[in-house]
Amino acid sequence: MARLSRRAFIERTGMGFAAATTLPSIDIQKNKAASETETHTSHILISLTVNGTVRTVKSEAHWTLAEVLRDHLDLKGTKIGCDRGQCGACTVLQDDKPIYSCSTLAIWSNERKITTVEGLTKNGKLDPLQNAFIENDGPQCGFCTSGQLMAAKALLAKNPNPTGEEVKQAMVGNICRCSNYNHYVTAVLDAAGKDVNRA
Ligand code: FES
Ligand code: FES
Repeated sequence: MARLSRRAFIERTGMGFAAATTLPSIDIQKNKAASETETHTSHILISLTVNGTVRTVKSEAHWTLAEVLRDHLDLKGTKIGCDRGQCGACTVLQDDKPIYSCSTLAIWSNERKITTVEGLTKNGKLDPLQNAFIENDGPQCGFCTSGQLMAAKALLAKNPNPTGEEVKQAMVGNICRCSNYNHYVTAVLDAAGKDVNRA
């Protein structure tokens, strides 16, 4: 039962009244047109390839990538913890490199490839790394898990045979407030085919 519940979690894991009344209607129309132009020009059309699919979004210049993913593309597996580049909960891959999406403006990601935790599952099957996280009791409260997965995914893509120290270094930017670091490191080594002692 506990295992089923963890699997479900991982699968999920994978924004002068009086004066105005006397204005001629033509001025009101002018104001409306000006306001529409302002709204229009404050958005920038960006194109992101998210989990293999091209998505276009009208983004305001100050929107972060995390905001666009979560609030405009409904990909809520990416978490926001500190929202200031310190905890790693918002980690996604941009062109296969881990980045903090809370500290990346969406417009900077224009025409880039983005992978979120939702992109790890293929044809309804968990990525081997996700299975290793389950088997090794990686997630506790689970808040940091999607970020940990993405950091680990980037490491294994570049170094399929890492040492424990290399795993720790690759995930040093991902804080776990449940302090479950050892389980995460073991899970990544397990996914890499190392002989590990499962808890
Ligand atoms: Fe982005 Fe903490 S939410 S680093
Ligand atoms: Fe709770 Fe990492 S599992 S914050």
